[in-house]
Amino acid sequence: QSYFHMPGIFSAPLSTPTPSPSPSPQPQTEKLKVRLAGYPRKHNEGRIELFYKGEWGTICDDDFSLANANVLCRQLGFVSATGWTHSAKYGKGQGKIWLDNVQCGGGEKSIELCKSRGWGNSDCTHDEDAGVVCKDERIPGFVDSNNKIEEVRLRPVVAMAKKKMPITEGVVEVKYKDGWAQICDIGWTIKNTRVVCGMLGFPHERKVNKNFYKLYLERQKNYFHIHSVACLGTEVHLAACPLEFSKPNATSACTGGMPAVVSCMPGPLFMQNTIFRKERCSRVGEGRVEVLKDNEWGTVCDDRWNLQSASVVCRELGFGSAKEALTGGRLGQGMGPIYMNEVKCVGQERSIWNCPFKNITMEDCQHMEDAAVRCNIPYMGLENTIRITGGRTRYEGRVEVLSLDSNGTQSWGLICGESWTTKEAMVACRQLGLGYANQGLQETWYWDSSNVTEMVMSGVKCTGSEMSLSQCQHHKTVSCQKAAAKFAAGVICSETASDLVLNASLVQQTVYIEDRPLHMLYCAAEEDCLSKSAAKANWPYGHRRLLRFSSQIHNIGRADFKPKAGRHSWVWHACHGHYHSMDIFTHYDLLNANGTKVAEGHKASFCLEDTDCQEGVSKRYECANFGDQGITVGCWDLYRHDIDCQWIDITDVKPGNYILQVVINPNYEVAESDFTNNAMKCNCKYDGHRIWLHNCHIGDAFSEEAERRFEKYPGQLNNRIS
Ligand SMILES: *[C@@H]1O[C@H](CO)[C@@H](O)[C@H](O)[C@H]1NC(C)=O
Ligand SMILES: *[C@@H]1O[C@H](CO)[C@@H](O)[C@H](O)[C@H]1NC(C)=O
Ligand SMILES: *[C@@H]1O[C@H](CO)[C@@H](O)[C@H](O)[C@H]1NC(C)=O
Ligand SMILES: *[C@@H]1O[C@H](CO)[C@@H](O)[C@H](O)[C@H]1NC(C)=O
Ligand SMILES: *[C@@H]1O[C@H](CO)[C@@H](O)[C@H](O)[C@H]1NC(C)=O
Ligand SMILES: *[C@@H]1O[C@H](CO)[C@@H](O)[C@H](O)[C@H]1NC(C)=O
Repeated sequence: QSYFHMPGIFSAPLSTPTPSPSPSPQPQTEKLKVRLAGYPRKHNEGRIELFYKGEWGTICDDDFSLANANVLCRQLGFVSATGWTHSAKYGKGQGKIWLDNVQCGGGEKSIELCKSRGWGNSDCTHDEDAGVVCKDERIPGFVDSNNKIEEVRLRPVVAMAKKKMPITEGVVEVKYKDGWAQICDIGWTIKNTRVVCGMLGFPHERKVNKNFYKLYLERQKNYFHIHSVACLGTEVHLAACPLEFSKPNATSACTGGMPAVVSCMPGPLFMQNTIFRKERCSRVGEGRVEVLKDNEWGTVCDDRWNLQSASVVCRELGFGSAKEALTGGRLGQGMGPIYMNEVKCVGQERSIWNCPFKNITMEDCQHMEDAAVRCNIPYMGLENTIRITGGRTRYEGRVEVLSLDSNGTQSWGLICGESWTTKEAMVACRQLGLGYANQGLQETWYWDSSNVTEMVMSGVKCTGSEMSLSQCQHHKTVSCQKAAAKFAAGVICSETASDLVLNASLVQQTVYIEDRPLHMLYCAAEEDCLSKSAAKANWPYGHRRLLRFSSQIHNIGRADFKPKAGRHSWVWHACHGHYHSMDIFTHYDLLNANGTKVAEGHKASFCLEDTDCQEGVSKRYECANFGDQGITVGCWDLYRHDIDCQWIDITDVKPGNYILQVVINPNYEVAESDFTNNAMKCNCKYDGHRIWLHNCHIGDAFSEEAERRFEKYPGQLNNRIS
């Protein structure tokens, strides 16, 4: 008997089924495992084996049906069955024959819930072992955690590019049992290469010089375990491709072939010597999907959202295939239009726009259903050159970086805390793979010191979007005034963060001018809400001209927005009768054509609270009575146009065309998952009496082209008016 039994390759763990009436056998309390076994076989067919009471066993083919096969295939993560086999077609199993005379209806969640003679009650031999053939289509989102070919890597040969990251070319190796095995390249196609590259974080494949490798590999001892890989190119994982496993002892049975070698093309973010540019999401390779139409960015609704469509998005963005296709606004909700629904990509499309989809109206979908992706990204090894020590949790600590001393030896060192801010901490947290920065600490004296005491980096200055600290500016030679370890830079990182966005259309709708008598502005003057010239006014006579509008600030992130300062440092504003928890929460500015502020930058501080929330979310923060301040995820804080200080003092502004700009959290004081949407801009036309706003939009809502047109507006119209 020549068959091969591979433990646990395609088994699927199951949740404990709910008990059903007899004559079903009693379901076991542990998760029942199901797998396909036998040789030769493809990944979606094989002998059925069940793990029950600590032992793998088979099912007898008596009374077996397509309905049984359907239940089993779904348990294995396939959408359905296309057939079943009898008489040990995939070879005889060993051990117990766990079930016999199984009769499923077809809709059961687990084979345990189908009628049968009961566990271990059978009059069959292994000559009657049943098998199934499943439809080669995975249930969306199915993750096979026991999959033994979960990991794939490229081994570069000899001196070639061993140190350069990312590794884009080499011999394909698959994690197999406790070691790594190669794939026999007979029948290997560029489509297989595409799947491997996608898994490794690369959007495209390229041709490889096989002869070069042949010379080298012929002298090596090779271990093949996988043969006849036949991917379509649209799979997100090698495990989803038809392939065969060799017999355990046939380690070199690849006659006439050699180990499969691939070469991948990295996306622009991962090309060597290019600096990481602006990304729409703070975690590299993951985020809410937004698409550009008519020069405006919008989201995608999650109906039928799956790994194939997510992979098209990932590759379009320069990453590999998709690791996860997320639904339900799990990576934050958008604010703008929703453009697509029921996207059904095959996986070969160059752009998500080439996939079939449905147009939607706002009634069909809400932002609660925004689709998101997590993409495979190349391994850069960045986390190996940074670590944190001394924190109370693994998410906080003093930052240590690996550096080379003048002798060329590697050692860990500290970063000078001076000028270290949330922006630098954001980069450190990203590099550490710990998400977002809650805080950048300039002093870390309260943690136990590791024996690393030397400062090796100072003057670090990041834009906030770099992938590693080495991409940020820093001093050429270390210069740190307080060189003690307790003044080294530290971070507190967090897996989730808030994300504040201003409702732009509300600003546009509510704008107006008010000439407000000075006698009504004492309180505002005390809080610095007027421009400097107000001090020279003839109080209480006369007025100030105010540009007024409402601000509605939504938290569309995944964590509540909370002021950085604790209550003890909140400032009581007697005049307005509430505490301010953040000194500078927003900037309100009026800019002219060359970006110069014409109305004095008004720095507004607020009392943060939940004014209202979307359906199903309850309010948590309230200003009154020294209450907790913040904005809950899914809620918003509304500053109505008629409250004090909710304005820009334009008394000294001449008629003309301007840009109104509102920036929330301008100093990055509080962590957010996305800072590109913190600015809101409008074109603003002022004729000396009235004011109009148009094109109000969030900082990242327009295409670059539309944004350029927008920015030109004041100049063009100024010329026309004058
Ligand atoms: C595989 O090799 C081992 C020893 O190397 C041997 O005991 C075993 O019988 C072989 N199995 C087969 C199927 O040839
Ligand atoms: C979707 O709308 C666009 C115009 O906005 C139209 O050109 C296209 O045909 C529509 N597609 C479908 C499937 O209705
Ligand atoms: C470099 O090596 C020499 C000799 O081993 C040693 O004396 C010196 O301190 C080293 N320099 C640094 C910066 O570690
Ligand atoms: C730090 O100290 C520990 C023991 O206190 C020692 O084992 C370790 O090698 C030291 N590390 C370095 C980098 O000096
Ligand atoms: C923004 O304001 C507009 C105008 O008042 C309103 O219709 C819309 O619902 C608001 N958007 C959100 C997301 O609340
Ligand atoms: C900006 O524009 C103003 C007038 O709109 C002009 O007075 C000023 O010199 C300009 N500044 C720069 C730096 O071009």
